[in-house]
Amino acid sequence: MRALLMKIEQASGLDRVGDRLQRVVQATLRPQRVRDLLHGVWLGHPLHPAMVQVPVGAWISTAVLDLMPGQRRAAATLCAVGTVSALPAAVAGLNDWAALARDQRRVGLVHAASNSVGLAFYAGSVAARMTGRHNLGRTLGFLGLGAASMGAYLGGHLAYKQGAQVNQSISELHRMSDGWHSIADMAALPERRLITREVDDVSVILYRHGDEVTVMLERCPHQSGPLGEGEVREIDGHDCVVCPWHGSAFRLNGGEVVHGPSGNDQQILPTRVVDGVLETRLP
Ligand code: FES
Repeated sequence: MRALLMKIEQASGLDRVGDRLQRVVQATLRPQRVRDLLHGVWLGHPLHPAMVQVPVGAWISTAVLDLMPGQRRAAATLCAVGTVSALPAAVAGLNDWAALARDQRRVGLVHAASNSVGLAFYAGSVAARMTGRHNLGRTLGFLGLGAASMGAYLGGHLAYKQGAQVNQSISELHRMSDGWHSIADMAALPERRLITREVDDVSVILYRHGDEVTVMLERCPHQSGPLGEGEVREIDGHDCVVCPWHGSAFRLNGGEVVHGPSGNDQQILPTRVVDGVLETRLP
């Protein structure tokens, strides 16, 4: 399996289809508000992995009921629930996929293809059950579960090995030592400008607004873009930093994500001022 996954990651032959599909997804899923909704910006958490719980749970339950006597009706109901709920989950997944790096998009493409095959089997299974062909419905359901399981395996690889849609910045905290760290003289800090500093060897950005100073991890939670090189923009009445790589935006007074593709908030660090010196520490 490892060799196969490596081959998929490196399969540049998938890029032609992938690039074309990416353009279609980006042109179709608009405006930004729709994309943000599907990324899970409103939740502060990627939406796709939460949404797939419904079809996965329903389909596994269908398989269990299919192995028990007298459960045809319940199995058919759960099979239909899984099939219908897979559609919005797939749209949210496509939206995330379109903002991934190339090697991630290759694995994501095969993940989507496996799940599409699974979905087609399940759609056939629902149709067969509704027309009284229960044995065929059951067989198609098991085939669907096989294909969807392969898709889930690839989805796990995409998240846990390739880090797709996981918070890329939070592990920075593990490299910071305990205790307060001095990072700047308050008197020398300019107003409303991003300043980059190091705490131990972790890069953070400073943003002063009046007597308040925000200290935030610099690596973007989406794909580690340098937020210190981003621009400050007012969004919905709040100063936000916009990532220079793919445009995720985070509030500078709290770290909440306001625009994707990041589905995660950015980590803010506590601050205090001692004798005119700004200090920060681990949350
Ligand atoms: S790295 Fe993608 S939005 Fe920041």
